[in-house]
Amino acid sequence: MIEAAFHFPEGFLWGTATAAHQVEGDNRLNDWWAWEQQPGRILRGYRSGLACDWWGGRWKEDLDRAAAAGQNAHRLSVEWSRIEPSPGRWDDHALAFYRDVLSGMRTRGIEPLVTLHHFTNPLWLSEMGGWENEAVIPHFEAFTRKTVAALQDLADFWCTINEPNLYAYSAIASDDFPPGRNSIGAAFRVMRHQVLAHAAAYHAIHELQPGARVGIASHYRGLTPHTGSPLDSLGVRMQSRLFNQLIPMALQDGRLRFPIGRERLANVARTQDYIGVNYYSTDHVSFDLRRPGELFARRFYPQGSDLSEVGMNANVPEGMRMAIRWADSFGLPIYITENGIEDESDSIRPRYLALHLHQVWKAINTGSPVRGYYHWTLVDNFEWERGWTQRFGLWALNPETQERIERPSGKFYAEICHENGLRSDMVRRYAPEIAAKLFPG
Ligand code: FCB
Repeated sequence: MIEAAFHFPEGFLWGTATAAHQVEGDNRLNDWWAWEQQPGRILRGYRSGLACDWWGGRWKEDLDRAAAAGQNAHRLSVEWSRIEPSPGRWDDHALAFYRDVLSGMRTRGIEPLVTLHHFTNPLWLSEMGGWENEAVIPHFEAFTRKTVAALQDLADFWCTINEPNLYAYSAIASDDFPPGRNSIGAAFRVMRHQVLAHAAAYHAIHELQPGARVGIASHYRGLTPHTGSPLDSLGVRMQSRLFNQLIPMALQDGRLRFPIGRERLANVARTQDYIGVNYYSTDHVSFDLRRPGELFARRFYPQGSDLSEVGMNANVPEGMRMAIRWADSFGLPIYITENGIEDESDSIRPRYLALHLHQVWKAINTGSPVRGYYHWTLVDNFEWERGWTQRFGLWALNPETQERIERPSGKFYAEICHENGLRSDMVRRYAPEIAAKLFPG
């Protein structure tokens, strides 16, 4: 039987993404560890504990799994609080750990993308007021210089800040993440500091490593007007400008466009070498006068959505296409730096994966410069305020025993990586319910 296939360009990066606090374990010197000890902060009182025990050495077996599964790329993060446990004091042991991990990736044929800030802050920084205090800018720059100088022979692909927009929203405008500030005004101040800290780090990295590729990973939230009403469309525009656009646009042209007050920042324009897109799902938006705090709009999944078991993400692959179209407008190479779904039983993930990759393939074939895809995530890990209730891994993890079991989508993704594409027989085997949709005839 002749099989149809969607092949990706030669050299396409196939990987998974992780973050230090979610996989390392025993990360006692950051604000998340402290937050986890407070009652009521994490669903069911879960704690990160040993996480996936990467700090204890299990990164080796997990990278063996990734390499055997055909992955040629991995996005990881370094933990600031380990590298700089107190201001200006550098821990060579921590830097040596990351050197081991990065050379472990290289020897396994895995190209690293290193994130410098993925949600967690050293305790000393949060005690100073964290990202609200302007002093974060020189501190982040110094940490970046130290880290990049120590790792630059092993990595040249950097993400300064993961999802600055989601961080500002979850940690500062609300209270899902530490410090739980609950202040919109403070969130705007933090966004300004993130933009300036990113720009300082961008220039520092290029000074050390002129050929480096530096960017951020933006959380792109798909937003669709619920009805044809112009008010719903207005709600989409307002939310999209604030959440999706504000930071990447500032890094493009140096202008911050807050709803009240605009500012032109020096040395910030053109500080992205690529666009990193984290795409998970798409909301419907309807205008709602009762929600001034959410810019007069309500976001929800409509009835009949293809929801995950816990309902946090809906499977909306067209949103991936929208996300890439948006990324295209910057005229830079694009990487899908995160995409995935929480699904312990692996009942939705295979079709989610196939349908989202199909959208990536379509975008590439209509000229979008997408160079790589990092699935979130390799092995189930500690899901922030949702603790261990959400399982995003291609491998299931029992955090008590540290046992890993490959899910069917792990096998599916391995076949995709080995093939550098998606073949019709794979889809028939792993996601038969969508085979006729993806490969009609
Ligand atoms: C993203 C985060 C990542 C993980 C996934 C599920 O917003 O960057 O750490 O929690 O969501």
